[in-house]
Amino acid sequence: MTTSPVFEELPIHPVDTRLRRIVTPLPAPETRSLLETSARVEPRSMGGQPPVVWDRAEGFNVFDAYGNKWIDFSSGVLVTNAGHGRREIQDAIITQAQHGLLHNYCFPSHHRIDLARRLTELAPEPLKKAFLISTGSEATECAVKLMRTHGRQVTDDKTVIVSYSNAFHGRTMGAQMIGGIPLLKEWIGYMDPGMVQVPFPDGFRCQDTSFAVFEESLAKMAIDPRRVAGVITETYQGGGASFAPPEYIARLREWCDQWNVLLTFDEVQAAFGRCGRQWGFEHYGVMPDLMCLGKGISSSLPVAAVVGRPDVMDLFPPGSMTSTHTGNPICCAAALANIELILKERLIEKAACTGEVLHKELWKQLKPFDARIGAIHGKGLVAGVHVIKDDSLAPDRDLAHKVVWNAVGRGLMLFSPVGVGGATIKICPPLCITEEAIIEGVSAIADAFKDCLS
Ligand SMILES: Cc1ncc(COP(=O)(O)O)c(C=O)c1O
Repeated sequence: MTTSPVFEELPIHPVDTRLRRIVTPLPAPETRSLLETSARVEPRSMGGQPPVVWDRAEGFNVFDAYGNKWIDFSSGVLVTNAGHGRREIQDAIITQAQHGLLHNYCFPSHHRIDLARRLTELAPEPLKKAFLISTGSEATECAVKLMRTHGRQVTDDKTVIVSYSNAFHGRTMGAQMIGGIPLLKEWIGYMDPGMVQVPFPDGFRCQDTSFAVFEESLAKMAIDPRRVAGVITETYQGGGASFAPPEYIARLREWCDQWNVLLTFDEVQAAFGRCGRQWGFEHYGVMPDLMCLGKGISSSLPVAAVVGRPDVMDLFPPGSMTSTHTGNPICCAAALANIELILKERLIEKAACTGEVLHKELWKQLKPFDARIGAIHGKGLVAGVHVIKDDSLAPDRDLAHKVVWNAVGRGLMLFSPVGVGGATIKICPPLCITEEAIIEGVSAIADAFKDCLS
């Protein structure tokens, strides 16, 4: 039996600026035994990220315990929108923990109801009821349940859920079944014929962005629109930070209305200012019937939500759409503090401006490597650099991986490449990041490309 190495050394580029510092080998020698323990006691699937043991994080910086400091372009995984370790969020967590209620199940509590109220105040019509849960996968599973239930109230066979190729909606079984990455769902062993995927009009890997592709794809699968209960799409596809054209989404909304189909935007990544708007779907100018929230909702503890049309949210009678940790009071306190912080510091408007700087800098600084970059997608403070082998547009997983590892060794925190062929370098800093840090962070990516290609 071959064993893979416990961790892969990072190429080190000592650096010491106001924003980044790399002063030890990576992994830091003191962390090797911890990483070995991780390999022994945690599943192999937990590996794969650069071997840096996070010790603390503040604003848009991550620190280890050995003097190294990174500019963070990861936000964990698009969670810490307000910034890492924000004092206001810490205080809300501590206050609630000390108040003495750590759990409340479905019994009413102030924080749960306050968070549901706040989300429905912020959400536009018709999204006026909120169901609180713990993870994004739970939210997308719940949206599927609601869409199918709604469909089956029309006719018994109105059950089909349409989603998109290359989509990611989480790791639980239903979430993977609506996901559009075949490899991730091989383990299931069979596919629900009522969960189908159509091409996502990203304008890069799917050049034809007309809505006709949606209708033709359903026709090819012999799916009558009358049998469709719901369509779910990430507002932008997380794997590549790719948006659909607004005209396509406008046509999708009309199509859903025509066939009495519910439309869900999975906003788990896109909401709470990530794309320079409160909700990512504002870029499309249409309303969904349901939206799924998670990640940036709290900038910290696990909370998620489905927010939607009251008639749809009320489909299930008392006790039949619940969860043990629904609206945990400490998680809700964190989310409430996070939302107020984002609004008070105008982080959404800020993300719209710094997002422009990010995209301008990426185009400018990565220009010398454009033969190996098929596209740069995204809006606001999310971007995906699609790394390719050559003109064939084949994804170059190895190069993307090397660039990420090299950049982390220069003091820029990135998670491993994602998306098609695992070849997209994803950039998603906390919304409180400064222009200076964006420019310096992008320069670390440019230096990494230069190194890896020389
Ligand atoms: C768009 C989207 N939906 C759902 C999920 C699943 O969220 P969680 O990991 O909290 O279950 C993710 C996670 O990456 C996501 O990006």
